[in-house]
Amino acid sequence: MLTNLKPQPADKILALGKAFREDPRTDKIDMGVGVYRNAEGVTPVMRAVKAAEQVLIDTQGTKAYTSLSGDPAFCAAMRGLVFGDAVDVSRVAAAATPGGTGAIRQGFELVRYANPEATVWVSSPTWPNHVSILKFMGMPMREYRYFDEASRSVDFEGMMADLTEVKAGDAVLLHGCCHNPTGANLTLDEWQAVADHLQATGAVPFVDIAYQGFGDGLEEDGQGVRLLARQLPEMILAASCSKNFGIYRERTGVLMTVTPDAKSQGEAQATLAFLNRQNYSFPPDHGARVVQIILDDPALRADWQAELEEVRLGMLSLREQLAAELRQRTNSDTFDFIARHRGMFSRLGATPEQVEMMRAKHGIYMIGDSRINIAGLNTETVPVLAAAMVEVGV
Ligand code: LMR
Repeated sequence: MLTNLKPQPADKILALGKAFREDPRTDKIDMGVGVYRNAEGVTPVMRAVKAAEQVLIDTQGTKAYTSLSGDPAFCAAMRGLVFGDAVDVSRVAAAATPGGTGAIRQGFELVRYANPEATVWVSSPTWPNHVSILKFMGMPMREYRYFDEASRSVDFEGMMADLTEVKAGDAVLLHGCCHNPTGANLTLDEWQAVADHLQATGAVPFVDIAYQGFGDGLEEDGQGVRLLARQLPEMILAASCSKNFGIYRERTGVLMTVTPDAKSQGEAQATLAFLNRQNYSFPPDHGARVVQIILDDPALRADWQAELEEVRLGMLSLREQLAAELRQRTNSDTFDFIARHRGMFSRLGATPEQVEMMRAKHGIYMIGDSRINIAGLNTETVPVLAAAMVEVGV
């Protein structure tokens, strides 16, 4: 049986990390995987995380199973962080999951379980693993236009034109903020138009929010999600704590649903627990508890927010520096979009050949579609990237 297995296609993002590690050059630059790094190239453990882990060590009396949906206090804290007071708590069901990817996978399971006929609509482009998981699960999938390569901004007309074909009971996958891979995001007016359209068609938004706090701020980054939650009877949401709490390897995420009333909430909650049980039984707890301790303690929460804000502002300043550097070197505003994009990623618009030339000649690593992780730069390497981009003719 096992000899029938075939070689697997490498995940492009993770394969790039391996190639970077194997490159002996000491001046190489890694803008691949979406992991935050500071100016020294380190992904630090956040201060509040260290403190919360200490609290956990000092106070945790058991590691017996928690509930199938995870720690209810974690779920409640995440509900507040993401939805604020946009929706009555009696309408929200939540279950902890192994990271944001676990929430996405469980969310797809939920869609298929609730409506086997559902098509999942994903943005073109989207995080490649969205597509990979959907294909692996054999779920019907369609793409909607999202990114205008020429202006490197959202192709909102194209998006809405494609979404005219959604049907009631389909799920439309939207990035809550900091679109991955493009860095181009919907305005609030555009979120409103999407909400109106979904309401008219009866399709359900499925929001993936993995970078809350990395874009315009913790509250600001939740505005699109909250607008949908205020207006629509139903929604599905996958949130990750990997990036904004910097706990990537703890695998901490949550899948939430908004349903029309308390009765349907009860059924959704039972289904989320059931789906956890079928796939991995109890979700991981350590990271979830760390997050809950931070969010429920005013001092730790304030310290976490302050550090997250430093991270966000650092990335914004690198964006501005890179845009200014390119403005000067090209004598044009072609790359001003880099300062307008939000989150870790921007898609530069380089061809695969140009991306490869930057890697081969300069040791500059970015994803083949020219997605950069801005946090892979520092003030010294920004001019190096700008020079290389000009040299290869991006
Ligand atoms: C990314 O897009 O680089 C991150 O979300 C990490 C991953 O798992 O791909």
